[in-house]
Formats: sequence, structure tokens, C-alpha cells
Amino acid sequence: MARVLLGVSGGIAAYKSLELARLATLAGHGVRVLMTETATRFVGAASFEGIVGAPVLISEFERDPMRGGFPGEEQPGHDPIGHLELAANCDVYLVAPASANTLAKLAGGVADSMLTTSFLACASPRLLAPAMNDRMFANAATQANLATLSGRGVEVIEPDEGRLASRGEFGRGRLPDPERLLARIEAALPAGERPWDGMRVLVTAGGTREPIDPVRFIGNRSSGRMGIALAAAAARRGAEVTLIAANVSLPEPAGVRRIDVETAEQLARAAAEEFKSTHVLLMAAAPADFRAATVSGGKLARQDGLELHLEPTEDILASLAAARGEAQTIVGFAAEHGGDAVGRARAKLTRKNADLIVLNDVSDPAIGFESADNAVTLIDRGSEAEVPIASKDAIAEAILARVAELRAEASGPAA
Ligand code: CTP
Repeated sequence: MARVLLGVSGGIAAYKSLELARLATLAGHGVRVLMTETATRFVGAASFEGIVGAPVLISEFERDPMRGGFPGEEQPGHDPIGHLELAANCDVYLVAPASANTLAKLAGGVADSMLTTSFLACASPRLLAPAMNDRMFANAATQANLATLSGRGVEVIEPDEGRLASRGEFGRGRLPDPERLLARIEAALPAGERPWDGMRVLVTAGGTREPIDPVRFIGNRSSGRMGIALAAAAARRGAEVTLIAANVSLPEPAGVRRIDVETAEQLARAAAEEFKSTHVLLMAAAPADFRAATVSGGKLARQDGLELHLEPTEDILASLAAARGEAQTIVGFAAEHGGDAVGRARAKLTRKNADLIVLNDVSDPAIGFESADNAVTLIDRGSEAEVPIASKDAIAEAILARVAELRAEASGPAA
């Protein structure tokens, strides 16, 4: 696992970095934290120290009791020059939140703290997640500093738009969710250091079309967005990803292998073939539950009337789960409409022999098929957790974070 250096500067969003440190540690990374003096006015160093299991450094003159080492590895034998050692040893360095003041210092090459000195000395991938009031973010000085830093190869993570800390204010300047920050950290890691290197992930997406005649079909409203977000998130973690896309008009994420299918039968066949070599199956597609028992060879005419006889399709998820191997993790999705949605999804978990069911309540018009946002409940055998409304990318990260936890619980490290 990777050695992650996390710089925290002074801003209200610093509380989100505690969660980021927790998620990164949970994912198996060794995390060291550097704080500016100002950051300590927002959150305490003791909180970070408790979470990552290593001392936080603030001043460049401070001695590092861990001698530049990261949690989970043997401590170096010699006492190094503190302010250079962590920067030299890390695989990636993220500053989150990066305040306007810290950005200005980094753009100007100022080295007046452990955070800024390490940033200057770091040759590994460097990332910045600015977070501040929207007018401070939009200010020409901040934008010029960001442009300078990007021009030097620093990766800038755009802040989100939304409710800001000051009362009633709304705009661009929010620190993205910790899951997304962790995803960006992991995507920046060199191959071989990413958490899902060597893992094979199969994602199904979209909705199947069951023909009635050459021009008509029975279909559903699944757009494939959630599956695409999952495929992208798995690829960022280093996995080899195959996407079985049922009538998806969206492009697949970079580096993802795509197999296009139309019907539930084609989806079942492709999935059965791919599943054998898969570590994680994310069954986000909506295969039709019924198909026409006979398909007309020619286009049916209106005046002839139409009576359809339907037959059930195979339950693909249940069939795959019935043939599963020990190291395979299976995630199903349940689109339920109100009532005891959690109870029905939990029953599905058992009936289909899945490890996790991602439930979304399609009675809520703010989430679902065509929308860019979603809100889900993650249900496994031992627990359930709500993921509040967020972009499908953020939801995908939360799902994969839970999958990683389940795999770690089942058999040690995720890979
Ligand atoms: N699914 C599947 N094969 C089907 C239908 C659904 O593999 N023929 C998968 C979906 O991809 C999803 C999960 O099963 O991951 C839940 O789908 P849902 O339609 O809610 O399940 P059903 O079996 O249709 O549930 P119910 O019996 O409540 O209709």
C-alpha cells in the first residue's frame, strides 16, 4: 500500500480531512499528516494522530519521532533532516484543504512551515484541493496562483459548487467529499502502488431490450450512468475493468474494456464468460425480467392487433452467485419504490446470495435513472449504511470503499 502525505492548511473544511485520513488509513495506506499553525485552530493535531497512528508535524524545525517513516513500515535507523524526509519518502502528497494563503505561498515557493517546505522538496505527484469562500476562490490572485501551480505539474482538484460555510452563502469553493479526494490520491499513485492493482472488476450497466419484432422492444429507463461511474472508479484504483454495456449511449471511461449487448440473454452469456476470472462483480445493469415468448420475424401491423406472451428471463445475478468462488465479491443493485425498501433489499441480498446490495429508492424524483445524482443505502449481511445524495461519482466511490472493506474483512488486504 502507498505512503500518503497529507498537508492540512487553515480552513473550516479541515474537518473533512480527518475523514479523508480515516478512509485512507482504512484502505491500508500509511498516512502522515503535516498541518499549518492556522489549521490547528480548526481541528486538533491529536485527532489526526489518533486516526493515522503517527505524529503530526507543524514546524520545519520539529524533530520527527518517526524519522521520516510511514505507519506500517520499519522505522529508519538514522535520524534524518526532518523537513526533507517525509517529502522524499511519500508516494503522493495532497494538500487538502489548500487555503488561499497556502496556495499563494506554494505558488511563490515560500518555505516557512513543514507543509510548505515539504511541498517544495517533493518529487512525487503533488495534488492540491483548494477550499475557501467562493469570492476568494474566484479572485484573480487565487486563480493566477492555481494556474502557476498547474503549469508546474501540480494537479489541482477543482472545488465543488454548493453551500459554503458562511451562513446562507452558496458558490464554488467546497472541498470535495473525502471519498473523491481519496480516489484522486489513488489515481495519482504509480502503477504497482494502487490499491486494486492486479484485481479484475466486471461491471454491467444500462438496460436490456427484449425484441417483440424487428423494430419494437420491451426496455427500461436505465441510462448506464451509475455503471459507468463504477467502472471509472474501479479503473482509478488500478483494477482491470470490463464493462458489459446494455444499450448505453455514453462513452466508456479511459482504459476500460467494453462489451456491448442488447438483450438479457446476451448479457447473461457475456457475464457468465467474464465472471470466471473476476474478483468483483458490480451488477448495476437492469436486465429485463420478462421477454416475449416468440419474436415476430416481420414488423407487426397495427390492424392485426397484438397479444404478447411473456416469459421470465434468467436471474443473471443469482445464477452467477450460485457458481461463485471464495475470493469473489458480488454486488447487486435494487431499485425499490417506497414502502419497506430496506426490508425488500435485504431479502434480495439473501435470495440472490450477494455480498452487498446497493438500494436506491426510485420513488424520489431527485435521484435515479437520468439524473447525475443518486442517494443509496448499502446493505450487507452485517450492517447497513446510508450514503446521502451526491454525484454518481461520489456514490461509486462510497460503494467501492465498502467493497474494499468487505474484502479486507473476508480475507485480509483487498488485493
Ligand atoms: N438482475 C439480474 N437478472 C435479472 C434481473 C435483475 O441479474 N433478470 C439483477 C440486477 O442487475 C440487480 C439485481 O438483480 O443487480 C436486482 O434487480 P431487481 O430487478 O430489483 O431484482 P428482481 O429479481 O427483479 O427482484 P424482484 O423479485 O423484487 O422483482
